[in-house]
Amino acid sequence: MSDYLLPVNDGLPARESGEWVKEKLYYVKRYIDVFEVTMRDRSWRRRIFIDLFSGPGKCIVRDTNEFLLGSPLLALQTQYPFTDYYFGDLEQENIDSLTRRVSESSIPNPDEPEPKRERESRTRGDLPEARERGKARSFPNGDFPSCIL
Ligand SMILES: C[S@@+](CC[C@H](N)C(=O)[O-])C[C@H]1O[C@@H](n2cnc3c(N)ncnc32)[C@H](O)[C@@H]1O
Repeated sequence: MSDYLLPVNDGLPARESGEWVKEKLYYVKRYIDVFEVTMRDRSWRRRIFIDLFSGPGKCIVRDTNEFLLGSPLLALQTQYPFTDYYFGDLEQENIDSLTRRVSESSIPNPDEPEPKRERESRTRGDLPEARERGKARSFPNGDFPSCIL
């Protein structure tokens, strides 16, 4: 798996935090996991994860230099993924870092040019599983599609 999706230094910016962030992210992950397990068998057409304060996707604990996955990457890598993801942040640098990280996940960003391999498989009527499952998009704050706001 790419370093972009692991709790390690991948060279992109990470949000600096105190030790307390470990507890926060533990509960964010638990909430996502409980939600996914209990909701996935219901007859919702879509299950959408919206993170309006997404940050760059990773945190670093100030005193220990430990890297942690932030809320967007926890949600993207949950066992039963959401059908769609929308991420926003005030800082363009955070959006750029998150976009780079998200691009390594199996959930495609429809704003990025489609790799040739996927275009070819799509024309053969052979949609990759992740593309059928949903999409991940990241936007500068306030630039969400109108269907969301
Ligand atoms: C605590 S961090 C987010 C951490 C992230 N949710 C996580 O758990 O990994 C808060 C983020 O909100 C962003 N932010 C602050 N004010 C904002 C605003 N008015 N609109 C959008 N984003 C904002 C900051 O740039 C920062 O990246």
